[in-house]
Parts: sequence; structure tokens; C-alpha cells
Amino acid sequence: MSTLSLKQLRKQFGDVTAVHEINLEVGDGEFLCILGPSGCGKSTALRMIAGFEEPTSGDILIDGQSVVTMAANHRPTAMVFQKYTLWPHMKVYDNIAFGLKLRGLARTEIDRKVNEALELVGLPDYGKRMPNQLSGGEQQRIALARALVLEPKILLLDEPFSNLDALLRVRLREELRRIQRRVKITAIFVTHDQEEALSLADRIAVMSKGRVEQLDVPSRIYDQPATLFVADFIGVMNLIPAQQNGATIDLGALRLESPTRVNGTVTVAIRPEDIAIVGESDVDAWGGEVEQIIDLGHYRKLLVKVPSVGTLKVYAPKALDLRENQLIGLNPSRFTIFRDGAAPIEVKREAVAPLEMSVAV
Ligand SMILES: Nc1ncnc2c1ncn2[C@@H]1O[C@H](COP(=O)(O)OP(=O)(O)O)[C@@H](O)[C@H]1O
Ligand SMILES: [Mg+2]
Repeated sequence: MSTLSLKQLRKQFGDVTAVHEINLEVGDGEFLCILGPSGCGKSTALRMIAGFEEPTSGDILIDGQSVVTMAANHRPTAMVFQKYTLWPHMKVYDNIAFGLKLRGLARTEIDRKVNEALELVGLPDYGKRMPNQLSGGEQQRIALARALVLEPKILLLDEPFSNLDALLRVRLREELRRIQRRVKITAIFVTHDQEEALSLADRIAVMSKGRVEQLDVPSRIYDQPATLFVADFIGVMNLIPAQQNGATIDLGALRLESPTRVNGTVTVAIRPEDIAIVGESDVDAWGGEVEQIIDLGHYRKLLVKVPSVGTLKVYAPKALDLRENQLIGLNPSRFTIFRDGAAPIEVKREAVAPLEMSVAV
């Protein structure tokens, strides 16, 4: 039963502000992902929570108690790192038992806890092995067991699966989530991989340049990005630079009516799945030319060149008969208008029926 609060947490390295004032509340048993591109301050934030890095200012509270002056080894946290950090000269059993021995637990107690931890990560018979006899995925499971055996209040994970191949990464992330739910531990997981964050997290904190741009549940991070950075970073997005004059924004052949009147530069964001492919002569649509067709197995991604708008990413069902250089119509049904210093505005149009499968355009 543990909560974490970060209050105005900040870290400065010389001239570089790695983390600006971050405020964050993580609930008991919550799985929070910190997501952002390389260098945005994710690891620095996590290392401050663990006590490996001293904050320049601000506070860190676990269950309402400040831990900011507490040494790392006294904090109720445990960390799993990206690189395998098992001690190479120690058996798996001793790697996991190490922290318990330091705490002076009785042998039988250590034995029971180590075996439970091995069981929990699905490697019950691995105690006698040396780390170099384990695959990368197995090493990370043992690293997780070693962290969990200490029964920390907060589990911290810094890109723990980034060195593993894609399939294994997906398997281990599902397993981690199962284990985290089972032991009901509060977890903070750092990643630059949006798919990992979207599939794992109860909530995601999207970071850019040391700041939290948006903190929300995955579906809202995807559907209602709070900033242009989040809109661009999460998922596939079409971004169209445009001018707003009063309420109207002209996007090539389509005119968008905004509920707010301003004059100035805006960026209009449209998800590919919000663009229907329609007939070329549809008056309520953009006319465009298929520049490229990228086959993605169960569907196809099209790059479509639309005059005065640019090249748009659109999804097409496989059954739709399309060729490169073909002229088609595109009917967008949902836009988000971003303007500097203003909250984003969502505008919907009536969605039209897309072309029937197998019907030639
Ligand atoms: N020990 C350090 N000394 C100086 N600068 C650092 C140090 N650690 C991190 N930084 C800088 O702080 C910024 C954030 O780094 P980091 O937290 O590692 O980002 P991330 O984990 O998101 O990739 C980067 O600009 C990085 O160069
Ligand atoms: Mg990092």
C-alpha cells in the first residue's frame, strides 16, 4: 500500500536542466509509465526517486514521508535497469539472496523468499545457474526477482526490456504486468517506446525536454493529445501547417470552421484512421494522388499527395483495389487544431461512408 508524490522536483546539471519542476502523484498499486524521447530526463527523474541522483530542488514523498535526504540503500525502492546488472561471479540464487543477507535474515527465511521470487518470475529451477548461462530475457527476469524479493514499496524500471528483441519484449511486458498486479506493487516504468507505454500503463506521463507534457490514461493520451508534441510523438499523425482567419481554416479544397475566432498560424492534426477513402469526384473531399502503397500485412498504409495540403498518411483495407498514381478522394472526419499558447480544439465533420471493399475507385 504505497503512494509516491513528486513535488516541484528539479535537476540541473551545470547549464542543462534535465528535469524542470515536475509534480506527479502516483496512486497505490498504480503502474505509471514515463514516456519520452531519448534525453528528455526520464532516467534522471527515476534516479532521483531511487536516490542515485540528488535533486537540485523539490521533494519526493513515499506514503506521505519525504525520502529526499535518505540514502539510496535506505529508501523503500528497488530498481531494474536496462543493462543486465546481475553480479557475474554469483549464482542466480546468491544474486537474489544478496540484499536479504545484508538485512540479516535467517537462512531458512532467505531460502523461502528466494524460491518464491524465482517462482514468481517463472524460473523456479534457475537458482544454481550462473548469469552467463542465461539468455537476455532470463537475466532481466532474475533482475526483476532480485528487486521484488526486497519487497520495496515502489518498483522502478528504467527501459528494462530495451535490449531484447521485439517478440520477447512483448512477452516480458505482459508477464511484468501480471506479476505487478499479483504483488500489487506501485510501479514506475520508464520507456521511449510508445507501444510499450500504451499497452502497459494505467497512466502515462509524456515527457519532453525535462517537462511533463501530459499525464493521463493511454486512451486519452492517444485521442486527446494536450500538446502538439504529444500529438506528434504518440501514434501516427498527419500535421498540416495552416492559417486561421477568423473562424475559418482553408485546407486546400476543404474549409474547416473552428469554434473560436483568431487570426494566425495553426497546425491541424488528423489521425490516419479518421480519413475515409472515397471516390475521386466526391465534392466533400480532398482529391489526391496515391504516391506510395506500403503493405503492412493486414492493412495498407498509403501516402497520398493532396494539393495545398501535403502528403497525408491514410490507412486502406487490403481488399480495396488501389494502385500507385491513382486519383482518389479523402474525407477526413476529425481534426485537432493546435495553436501556440492555446488549448487544442477538436473539430468533427460528418463521417461519410468509405468506399466499399473491392470496388474500384
Ligand atoms: N550526470 C550527468 N551529467 C550531466 N548531464 C547529464 C547527466 N545525466 C544526464 N544528463 C543530461 O540530462 C538530460 C536528461 O538525461 P536523461 O535523464 O538520461 O534522459 P533520458 O533517460 O530521457 O534519455 C540529457 O541532456 C543528459 O545529457
Ligand atoms: Mg534513460
